Amino acid sequence: MQPEFIIIHQQVAPFVAHIQLNRPKELNALNLQLMTELKDALKSLDADDSVRVIVISGNDKAFAAGADIKQMADKSAMDMYNIDQFSTWDTIKKTKKPLIAAVSGFALGGGCELVMLCDMIIASETARFGQPEIKLGVMPGAGGTQRLTRAVGKALAMEMVLTGKFITATEALNAGLINRIVPVELYLQEAFRLATEIAAQSPLAVRMAKESVLKAFDSSLEEGLHFERKNFYLLFASEDQKEGMQAFVEKRTPVFKGK
Ligand code: HXC
Repeated sequence: MQPEFIIIHQQVAPFVAHIQLNRPKELNALNLQLMTELKDALKSLDADDSVRVIVISGNDKAFAAGADIKQMADKSAMDMYNIDQFSTWDTIKKTKKPLIAAVSGFALGGGCELVMLCDMIIASETARFGQPEIKLGVMPGAGGTQRLTRAVGKALAMEMVLTGKFITATEALNAGLINRIVPVELYLQEAFRLATEIAAQSPLAVRMAKESVLKAFDSSLEEGLHFERKNFYLLFASEDQKEGMQAFVEKRTPVFKGK
């Protein structure tokens, strides 16, 4: 069935797919159906050998202004428990291929949390990041208190979460939340360019490197180093390692096959 609230663009560049959140009138508010469609699309692109990197964007005005407040407003705690929306988020988190968020305009609440669940963030000059849930009488629930704090540090995270204030793209860059800022007419292009650069590497090495970087967030240094070393050794079992090193010796560009 065709998704209603996202648009999937295959091969926007070699080995690069693009998912666009598409509820423009609601500033891409993340209702349950949109999140399910996103999860399903990511699962299928993750299993597709013709895709190596996935870019997620909204539109120029909004990446996403958060979870759908109108859908949540009258829910009880038990409704929320039974709906169990976070199992969708947990599946998205398991995506093995690199996810690049291309952000313009609002990335708020669940929108900011979705951006932070991605591996890299390219922002337009108009991007605004925030966790305004406090103004609704609640708090972040999809990782905002944890990922934001790890990304920007306690002082700024605490201020953003407790006041709901938005930060600009420049503040986000200075705080280490995002990779870079580009003019609004170029943010998607820049995200595709970065995706293409990563897609030219060995997909096996990229996958294990992503796993290893993420390991740094939930392990001790020793455990993380051990995990890294295992993955490093394991890559010597790949044809791509032979190709990569042989190509260096022969002074040519390697062609990686993901084997
Ligand atoms: C539902 C939303 C929405 C949202 C905007 N809209 N954000 N609908 N849920 N999160 C709708 C508005 O109701 C409006 O619909 C239309 O989108 C345009 O929004 P406006 O407010 O008219 O636009 P503007 O004046 O430009 O203000 C933009 C804004 C504001 C500053 C982003 O919309 C805003 O504050 N939105 C809510 C942001 C927020 O609190 N996010 C956190 C949500 S809680 P109508 O029909 O009136 O035209 C959350 C928890 C996550 O994310 C938990 C884990 C999943």
